[in-house]
Amino acid sequence: MNKAKRKAIIAGNWKMNNTRPEAKALLEAIKPLVANAEGKIEVIACVPFTNLETAVNTTAGSNVKIGAENVHFEEKGAFTGEISAPMLTELGVEYVVIGHSERRQYFGETDETVNKRTLAALKAGLKPIVCVGELLWERECNITEEVIARQIKLDLWSVTAEQVKDVVIAYEPVWAIGTGKVATDEQAQEVCAFIRAQLAKLYGQDVADAVTIQYGGSMNAKNCAGLLAQPDIDGGLIGGASLKAEDFNVIVQAAVNG
Ligand code: PGA
Repeated sequence: MNKAKRKAIIAGNWKMNNTRPEAKALLEAIKPLVANAEGKIEVIACVPFTNLETAVNTTAGSNVKIGAENVHFEEKGAFTGEISAPMLTELGVEYVVIGHSERRQYFGETDETVNKRTLAALKAGLKPIVCVGELLWERECNITEEVIARQIKLDLWSVTAEQVKDVVIAYEPVWAIGTGKVATDEQAQEVCAFIRAQLAKLYGQDVADAVTIQYGGSMNAKNCAGLLAQPDIDGGLIGGASLKAEDFNVIVQAAVNG
């Protein structure tokens, strides 16, 4: 089973939600629920920059890892409002979401900047969760595979085979994010398998088989089991459902049992 070669990862993407006290309370609620996942799957909470220190402190000694939601590609300098990869690692942050469709849509993120951020994260020892996915219009025009192939190639440009083992790919069809319109198990599996085939072209099958590929987009307590049972779906990037400890835990348990 190739699935056994890679780590299942359930990551919450809190987006622009939760003050520090709210973050602490949510993580305190999540910790005991997901403690049994230790050694079986990876559980991550990706939180706003202002919550990172609180989140790292609150989860210290537990199996919940902390991620940021973005990172700049320069190490330091005149980039007002930005946060660098070394600033994140110094805080104890282990993961970072890069190229989320909301960043691409609202903040001018391109495949070129996604690539630069990915390289900067890897250089600093952060594990990037690189998001790819097609727009509804692109799916309707039947160019999903072209879009995904281009994103994988550009976003991972000059990332080595050794480095890509620390990269997580999140397949997030843009039309499914925050809309309640989840991709069917078959649609999600089809694209995740296609992503793995692209990785195999770039890095060889052995490396591709070791890369964790998540599905994201309206994954919730009800639909997670079917998605996570798919052979090329190794976890989930969870938005709305990660803001409630019980719902998030149902998804974590589905991955533990899958
Ligand atoms: P959603 O968000 O689960 O609320 O659709 C997923 C994401 O944007 O990562």
